[in-house]
Formats: sequence, C-alpha cells, structure tokens
Amino acid sequence: MAKRLVYVLNGPNLNLLGLREPEIYGSDTLDDIAAMLEDRARELDIEIDMRQSNHEGHLVDWLHEAQAEGAHAVLLNAGAYTHTSIALLDAIKAISTPVFEVHLSDPTKREPFRHLSYVGMAARECFQGHGPRSYLLALEAAAAL
Ligand code: DQA
Repeated sequence: MAKRLVYVLNGPNLNLLGLREPEIYGSDTLDDIAAMLEDRARELDIEIDMRQSNHEGHLVDWLHEAQAEGAHAVLLNAGAYTHTSIALLDAIKAISTPVFEVHLSDPTKREPFRHLSYVGMAARECFQGHGPRSYLLALEAAAAL
C-alpha cells in the first residue's frame, strides 16, 4: 500500500529558525525539524512533504495542492499569517484535507495581536508551545486519523 502523504507547510520567517529570536523559538533550524519529522514519519509509515514560503499565496496554493494530491493531512505553521490571513482560513475551509495548526511558541501567552488565529477557526486541532515537539505531536495526531 502507498504511504500516507502529509504536507508540512511553513510560513513567513520560519526559514530563519535557529537564528531568529532563539529565546522564543529555540536553536533548531527548520532542517533540524524536518529531520526529526522524517525519523518519526518513517516509523509511522508516512511520507512527509515539507515546504516553507514567505508568501501567503504560496501557502494557499499548497493547501489546494494537498487536496488535489490526496494528502492524508496538512501540518500548518502559518507564522504571522495565522493572525491575519482570511485567505488561509478560506483555503482550509475550501479543502476536505484535515489541517493541523502548529506553533513552536504559544501565541496565546504572547502579545494580544497573536491571540486571534484565523487558521485555528478551521483547523482540526492546534499544537502550540512545545517547541519543535509541536510538529511531532501534530504528526502523531495526523497519523492517528
Ligand atoms: C509562530 C507564532 C507566530 O505568532 C509568529 O508570527 C511566528 C511563529 C510559532 O511557531 O510560534 O512566526 O507561528
């Protein structure tokens, strides 16, 4: 049987993980997180397609693509677009692929402008505040679907 495909989509500034505000986001790079996810995905018999973009429309296109490709689930760390993007909310609602919201930090314990999550209005579940483990927890939840 073909492996289940999980898209892991990362939004703006996440390419700078490891360098960017390490006191908030830690010292792991996005490549480190990808390697950690790949290890776990192998055990779960899941194929990961991990991407990052600083452009909102790329994330919208990739959500559509996940559905078209028959992906099992999407893990989405939309970065700051989480708190601003009605386009991402609409894209998540437009597809039937389950989307899991992921954040390294816990936005609800930070500045008030991070407390609103458009992604969270349509996401299946949210994993936040666990550093890179947030991605692992989301992957486990996706695998359990
Ligand atoms: C983040 C939290 C967002 O508020 C922020 O804009 C990010 C990263 C996180 O992973 O903790 O870019 O999504």
